Amino acid sequence: MSGRADSGPSDWDAELSAAVEPPLWDPDRDDRLVCRAVRQETHDVKTFVFSGRSPCRFRFTPGQFITLDLPIDGATVNRCYTIASSAARPHRIAITVKRVPGGPASNWLHDHMVPGRELRATGPMGDFTPAGRPLSKLLFLSAGSGITPLMSMARTLDDLALERDLLFVHAARTPADIIFRAELDVLARGGTGVRLAHLCETTGADGPWPGYTGRLSPPMLRLIAPDLLDRDLYVCGPAPFMAAVRAMALEAGVDPSRYHEESFSFEDLPGNAPPAPTETEPATVSGFTVEFTKSGRTITCGPDTPILTAAAAAGLRLPSSCSRGLCGTCKSRLLSGQVAMSHGGGIRQREIDQGLILLCCSRPVSDLVIER
Ligand SMILES: Cc1cc2nc3c(=O)[nH]c(=O)nc-3n(C[C@H](O)[C@H](O)[C@H](O)COP(=O)(O)OP(=O)(O)OC[C@H]3O[C@@H](n4cnc5c(N)ncnc54)[C@H](O)[C@@H]3O)c2cc1C
Ligand code: FES
Repeated sequence: MSGRADSGPSDWDAELSAAVEPPLWDPDRDDRLVCRAVRQETHDVKTFVFSGRSPCRFRFTPGQFITLDLPIDGATVNRCYTIASSAARPHRIAITVKRVPGGPASNWLHDHMVPGRELRATGPMGDFTPAGRPLSKLLFLSAGSGITPLMSMARTLDDLALERDLLFVHAARTPADIIFRAELDVLARGGTGVRLAHLCETTGADGPWPGYTGRLSPPMLRLIAPDLLDRDLYVCGPAPFMAAVRAMALEAGVDPSRYHEESFSFEDLPGNAPPAPTETEPATVSGFTVEFTKSGRTITCGPDTPILTAAAAAGLRLPSSCSRGLCGTCKSRLLSGQVAMSHGGGIRQREIDQGLILLCCSRPVSDLVIER
């Protein structure tokens, strides 16, 4: 049977050659993503698959995240989501989102993001990634939606057929809350060096449970991973889980340089405390006045102090997440004045040109008026 002579969308040769090397996604040129599919993973977790508006590839290392601009109640809400899909499948990216009770962004995504709908995004960003480190024996420890960066790493290793010894330990509330359970089972049954240990707080009404029950404890960790000290650890989950795992691992003698963690709340990470007054940044400083038009507050901010830090010192709570110019959560409009900003990728050049700044990494060089 002969194929079609024209080169329309049904011409596989043309489609394939265009798809092999489309340009890299460049959010400075076109930051819109199109939702291509939505999958229900568990009762409160959905996966959203995105592509660019025109054919493009996403370049990221597994474990990195994107920041979404979500149009909620007439305002833009910024939230970070880890790319859960494989870095070896660059034409689409997927995020997997847990519905947080009362949370504006996760509920908006669950309720409004459908195939065909577009969103603005920046990234990929983040340094919670094994890329650049030697291939070694791995231990992944995740809880709840903290599985997403580790899933991206596991999927990427599998797609690239890399030699590995991966022990993947995932903690969930009940068996019904285990995200990616079927896919993880397939990975573990594939004979490609992946071992799986599921751990549930309770078994619920789901009948016999073949995995571990309860919370992770030092004896359980020793039982699951007797060769703990030979492995590189990657950990992600809620703050209490991460604190417990960190304490267990360091107590067991894990070399801190082999211990890597990601928090979905940047403030939870050691050495990343939320902005607060310090001895060198007193609450009352001489400096420039900063007026926030929406809250009606005016504060003073020294020339060496990030505006977010000065605002926190003055008791003004503003949206923020990473405090490092990465995530875009503190993005605000500068109505007048000038700042010195040193960001880490959380703002586009076009936005800077339009008068937006990141409060966490901007210092005043004059009196300021900010729309916040
Ligand atoms: C680098 C990074 C990567 C992230 N990746 C993911 C991801 O892959 N999947 C995902 O679902 N979320 C992820 N998050 C969290 C996400 O950015 C939002 O914070 C989350 O969706 C809640 O937003 P919200 O507006 O609905 O609720 P918010 O009002 O922001 O949060 C409401 C409350 O829920 C808590 N909370 C926030 N996220 C979670 C969560 N996932 N589970 C339990 N409690 C939570 C918050 O601490 C807060 O107390 C990531 C965050 C960061 C910083
Ligand atoms: S809080 Fe993340 S960019 Fe400012």
